[in-house]
Amino acid sequence: MRKKIVAANWKMNKTLQEGEALVKSILSGSTNSEDITKIIFPPSLFIPDFVSLVKENASFSVGAQNCYHTEVGAFTGEISASAIASCGAKYVIIGHSERREYFKETPQQLLTKIQLALIHGLTPVFCVGEKLPDRKSNHYFSAVKQQLSDVVFLLPEEMFSKLILAYEPVWAIGTGETATPEQAQEMHAFIRFAIEEKYNKDVAKQISVLYGGSCNAKNAKELFACADVDGGLIGGASLVAEDFLQIVNSF
Ligand code: PGA
Repeated sequence: MRKKIVAANWKMNKTLQEGEALVKSILSGSTNSEDITKIIFPPSLFIPDFVSLVKENASFSVGAQNCYHTEVGAFTGEISASAIASCGAKYVIIGHSERREYFKETPQQLLTKIQLALIHGLTPVFCVGEKLPDRKSNHYFSAVKQQLSDVVFLLPEEMFSKLILAYEPVWAIGTGETATPEQAQEMHAFIRFAIEEKYNKDVAKQISVLYGGSCNAKNAKELFACADVDGGLIGGASLVAEDFLQIVNSF
């Protein structure tokens, strides 16, 4: 049985006080979802505080939106995987399209980030997803396959099998345009098949693959009903407690 996961990527939103209020309303409204892993990815500064807020609730965890690709050193403003883990975070998002685009993160850097995250006991949530021109020209399978081959398929099986993947078509992120359930399912099945080809059926079966890109309280149910969609990585809709809770209740 694969894990069902709903992850909240807050990006660069909320102050500490606003964030605490949001986490508290999510916690108080969260009922009957113990079998669903909920991960909050706030701005990294809030991690220690949020770790203590969620500690009584085993189905909640906290993660970082990024880590640096070097273990330690003179990199002003960056945060290491070990520092993140030492604050009680359990997960880290790696390879989000916004980081690839705005911060020019390279496949080699992403691979190193994943290796460092795993060394320090963090579970990486690795994002892939095609851009609009690839979708329009029907090159979306090859674009996603390339992103997998350039980074995570370079890992040995025992490391790869610890990952969570997220399929986030770039044209759907923050745009209000969501992949249809058919588009999501066909890509998730493709990703699972690529994993089977590269590793084996058992690994392919047990890896959780999340959908992200304008997933919200209205469309989550039909997306989560897809056989190969194991949950969501939610941006905008995770900033409102009722919406996030409704998404959690959409399995
Ligand atoms: P969105 O963002 O839900 O606001 O589209 C998703 C993401 O970037 O993870």
